[in-house]
Amino acid sequence: MSNLKRFRALEERDINRETFVESWPEAGLMVADSPYDPHPSLRIENGRVVELDGRAEADFDTLDCYIARHGIDLLVAPEVMALDSLTIAHMLADINIPRAVLLRLAAGCTPAKLVDIMRHMNVLEMMNGLAKMRVRRIPANQAHVTNRRENPALLAADAAEAALRGFAELETTVGVARSAPFNALAILVGAQTGRGGVMTQCAVEESLGLRIAMKGLTTYAETLSVYGTEQAFVDGDDSPWSKAFLASAYASRGVKVRFTSGTGSEALMGSAEQRSMLYLEARCLCVTRGAGSQGVQNGSISCIALPESLPGGVRAVLAENLMASMLGLEVASGNDALASHSAIRKSAKLMLQFIPGTDFIFSGYSAVPRKDNMFGGGNFDADDLDDYAVLQRDMQIDGGTRSITEAEAEAIRRRGAQAIQAVYAELGFPDIGDHEVEAAVQAYSSDDMPTRDIVPDLVAADAFLAGDRSMVDVVAALARRGFTDVAEHLLTMGRQRIAGDYLQPAAIFGRDFVVQSAINQPNDYTGPGTGYRVEGARWHEISHIHQAKSPRDFIADRLGSPLESLAGYGNAKRGGSTEVVVAIGPAFGRIMTKTIGGLNHEEVLKAVLTGIAEEGLIGRIVRIWRSSDCAEIGHVGAKLSGSGVSIGIQSRGTSIIHRVDLARLNNLELFSQSPSMTLDTYRAMGRNAARYAAGKMTTPVPVTVDNWARLRLIVKTALLHRRESEEIRDLPPEALRFDWEPEV
Ligand code: 5AD
Ligand code: CA
Repeated sequence: MSNLKRFRALEERDINRETFVESWPEAGLMVADSPYDPHPSLRIENGRVVELDGRAEADFDTLDCYIARHGIDLLVAPEVMALDSLTIAHMLADINIPRAVLLRLAAGCTPAKLVDIMRHMNVLEMMNGLAKMRVRRIPANQAHVTNRRENPALLAADAAEAALRGFAELETTVGVARSAPFNALAILVGAQTGRGGVMTQCAVEESLGLRIAMKGLTTYAETLSVYGTEQAFVDGDDSPWSKAFLASAYASRGVKVRFTSGTGSEALMGSAEQRSMLYLEARCLCVTRGAGSQGVQNGSISCIALPESLPGGVRAVLAENLMASMLGLEVASGNDALASHSAIRKSAKLMLQFIPGTDFIFSGYSAVPRKDNMFGGGNFDADDLDDYAVLQRDMQIDGGTRSITEAEAEAIRRRGAQAIQAVYAELGFPDIGDHEVEAAVQAYSSDDMPTRDIVPDLVAADAFLAGDRSMVDVVAALARRGFTDVAEHLLTMGRQRIAGDYLQPAAIFGRDFVVQSAINQPNDYTGPGTGYRVEGARWHEISHIHQAKSPRDFIADRLGSPLESLAGYGNAKRGGSTEVVVAIGPAFGRIMTKTIGGLNHEEVLKAVLTGIAEEGLIGRIVRIWRSSDCAEIGHVGAKLSGSGVSIGIQSRGTSIIHRVDLARLNNLELFSQSPSMTLDTYRAMGRNAARYAAGKMTTPVPVTVDNWARLRLIVKTALLHRRESEEIRDLPPEALRFDWEPEV
């Protein structure tokens, strides 16, 4: 434990629950620029690559072979390889160079060349590059929908809500592999309840994933993992060719394909070959492009904690996202797996993808609570949904979601759960009871769900997978039970699958099943005033979070009708030396009758006058009409005061003790924290003012400082001040009679 108390406090912080290590290039624990990374090189002879990044053809490993044959556009390669990397880095950061120019050049880059370009770029420049290179015009978001108990009603309810919140893709996975067809079914039905056109997938072993897709239960596949060394590929039971074959299998059945790669996996698997993480990722990306995948899920993904333990890790993750987008790949840019204990750090990391906008800012925002996230916990989860909505509103950035009301959530959750209940009943699957549906609507997590015997579910899932029934039977079941809209959405998904438009790069469905992709909505950002802008209906949606109140009736509870005890009787004059003037603002006791802290104006006046009387002086009340400013109210009061001392009080309660010889913005005591003031404070203020007036020594009234008050009440403060300022009149100070006598 540290000796210094400040260090001990730091030790307790979330950030110090992380592991930080120094780089170790020999073990692959270096995010970029390993001394063992090759320099970019490419030799082509008779249309054939004979040297790639310093390695002769005879020494090629499987990845080199694959990249040499499929991963590089040899027509542009000589041109781009001869260009200075710094020049290309400039072009990436320069908004005046359009995306298409860089797309063409990047296609001819070797992996080491891509990395060499990144070497020159800081995160701000990379973010500029990413904003331009993102494939789809409008960014989107993907969510994780899982639960530990694999409860179908809860999965469907959560999927329905996530779809309503705006996620364009939903991903589930399993605790028990045999649950896969049913989990896929539950989020399919839930998603189509929430919004028609949301795409879904189930992350499981790849041949199982393919069978589920062929039944029409999923529309995309994302877990086609690629690795940057041959050994890691082999350990992953694959090669670039087998991945390419699998991708074709999916695509040929109308399933959208996205590969997965990302920094750190090779080091984690013990076969980094002394290369930096970024270099190995560049190889993955060249393989991915070569295999014909339309996109990639990268940004370290499940390995994120490893680059984040190293210097430059978060920058390197952004670099990998940028390299992928340069290659024309749709990018689902990570921010999925739990990456940090620290809320500051996780939010800061997010900004690198959130601000430029990527095709999918999260490759899995956990739409469920952390402990129900079967991907091992999400970096942002259901508890952060309001935070995420506010970030979008704060920055006028489209993060791919919208805020919904509790009533909307309740309705859509119920309908999603009822829809899957109907499907289970119609297809003869184990019963989903009404109590389960209702529990799923209300639940925070799967802990709130009644126990469900998983064995009959698994048996039914096995039979469903083995049998002939497919999503068409699900459509029929929904239609028979009156869920015609959901049935229609599912059927449209099936039709779209045959049309295949969503196999285009970066395709998602907007509302009404209209595909948005690199073909019909390519990113056309070239600086201010171009590209996608958050405006119109979407900005309206983002700005109107469910917690936002109308400011118009914000201060209604502080307004009232004029105090009967307070009456004016002409222009105020200067009085005698035994008085303290109590100067009040133009709205005090008239339009407004309570301070911001809820004290009645009448009680406030009584407290002040009592305090003055306790010291043997007389309080005289005067209304200032020409200003709502606290210092001015006090200062004008002081000029009228026979003793030269006054108390100035704004309607919201902010007060000052002033003296005529002081400059307006100077004072004897200032009470700026009106929310924490009590009647005792006002009384003490009266006593002190009287003591100043009598020329006595006095200790300033102690005030409690609430650091959060300004934050909590600033809107109210502004509105109360505005309301008081509306009452300003071009009138001299007014003498007031207050029908009350202090008993001292
Ligand atoms: N590289 C390759 N594949 C990855 N996955 C996660 N992180 C990586 C990475 N850095 C894969 C997992 C699983 C899915 C969540 O993505 O193996 O299939
Ligand atoms: Ca994902």
